[in-house]
Parts: sequence; structure tokens; C-alpha cells
Amino acid sequence: MKKLHLIGNIKMNFTKDEANEYLTELKALAEGTDHTVGVAMPSVYLHLASDIIGDSKTLLGAQNVNYNNFGAFTGEINAEMIKDFNVNFALVGHSERRSLFKELDEDVNKKVKELLKHNITPIVCVGETLQEREDNQTEKVLSTQIKKALNEIDLEDAKNIIFAYEPVWAIGTGVSATSSQADEGCLIIKNKVNSLYGSILEPVVLYGGSLNSKNAHELLSCQNINGGLIGGASLKAKTFSDIFNMVI
Ligand code: PGA
Repeated sequence: MKKLHLIGNIKMNFTKDEANEYLTELKALAEGTDHTVGVAMPSVYLHLASDIIGDSKTLLGAQNVNYNNFGAFTGEINAEMIKDFNVNFALVGHSERRSLFKELDEDVNKKVKELLKHNITPIVCVGETLQEREDNQTEKVLSTQIKKALNEIDLEDAKNIIFAYEPVWAIGTGVSATSSQADEGCLIIKNKVNSLYGSILEPVVLYGGSLNSKNAHELLSCQNINGGLIGGASLKAKTFSDIFNMVI
């Protein structure tokens, strides 16, 4: 069986009670799977999530982190803070952060370094817009985003990074990439990472963008796709579990 990383991204959803119910259900559902299951929670629920899923198989993630240490950064949280809540991974450079909050590749790189320092796995998200795809810029955009994200990161650290190919036009739109587009995007990322380090790193690369239980089997069966980053379809524990209960 192909072992997958299946990561839910809750984004800005759930009341406290809903988060409680969801995490309790997810924890139970994920017990039976051999895949790696994780969920990126809103930061305000990390404490609750840490109490509920604690030392279970389900990994806990943050959706964002500031790259600075403690200090005058109103409204922000840093890697050391989330580490205290047993956070295993954090999303970095999600396209919503890039487009809505003007995050730059340089910010992504700093966040990756800060997370690695605290032994938190960065999940680095990259992806092209529809316009860039139509202009045949996909490979260039992905390669540039990867190169900048990995600036001054050595080989040993790079081994601890997960990547996600998330075409911007497929996120939250209900229009996923075709399996060949998704596979090709993930391959571009793998090749770029390998070319930067001159060795075969075998990076884990997830696909994200309107992934659901209907298209999951086809997408996740692709050779270069090691799992999924799932938004909308992860918001119900049962729907999410339909994906991670799949045998690929
Ligand atoms: P979606 O979101 O599955 O709702 O398209 C994916 C993501 O934003 O990571």
C-alpha cells in the first residue's frame, strides 16, 4: 500500500465547540489508518487541539507562524509559542497568505528557517495562478518559489521539509487539477529540490486544491504525489476520513 500524508486545513472555521467535537471525532477515526493524518488548526484552538489529540496518531499543525522571536509584533505568534502546544507542522506560504496578506517568498524562507530551528516540519505551499498557467509559466513559477523558499537551507534541514503543490486556481474552487497536471506539478517540485541539492532527497510532495473523496483516488495514485492538503473536504471529520481510509 502507498503510504500517504493527508493534511486537513481548517482555515478560519469552527467555533470552540465545533473544534472540540471535530477533533474528538477525527482522533478516533484516524486511529485505524496507516496513512499519516494531520490537521492545521486556527491558532486560537491549538491549546484545545493539543489537549484532545495530544499523543494520538493525529498530527497537529499551525496554519501560519511569524518568523520573529518574541517582541513587538502585535497580533502575531511565533514558532516557540506553537511548539509548546505539541505542534508537529506548520503551513508556510499558502496562496491565501501570499495573496491576501502579501506574503513574499523571502518571508516564506524566513518562516521555514524559524520552524526548522524549533523542529516543526514546514509544509511549503507553492502554486501558479490561472494566468501563469495559461502563459506557460507554471514550471518557472514553481521553480522560483521553491528556490527562494530554500535559500540558505542546507541539505540536512531540507530533508525535513514537506512541499505542497497547490495551483491557485484549484483552491476552494471545486475545480481540481487533473491527475496529470497535479502529477506534473509535483514532479517539477521534486526535480527542482533535487537539482538544488545535487542529490536525491526524495521530498514528500502533497497535492492540494479541491481534493475530495471523489477525486482523491485518482489524484493520490499518481506516482509523484505523496499525499494531499485538503481544505473544504477536511471540514467534516467523516468526509476527511473517507479520504484517509482509501487504500491506494
Ligand atoms: P480546498 O483547499 O481543498 O478547499 O481547495 C485546499 C487548501 O487551501 O489547502
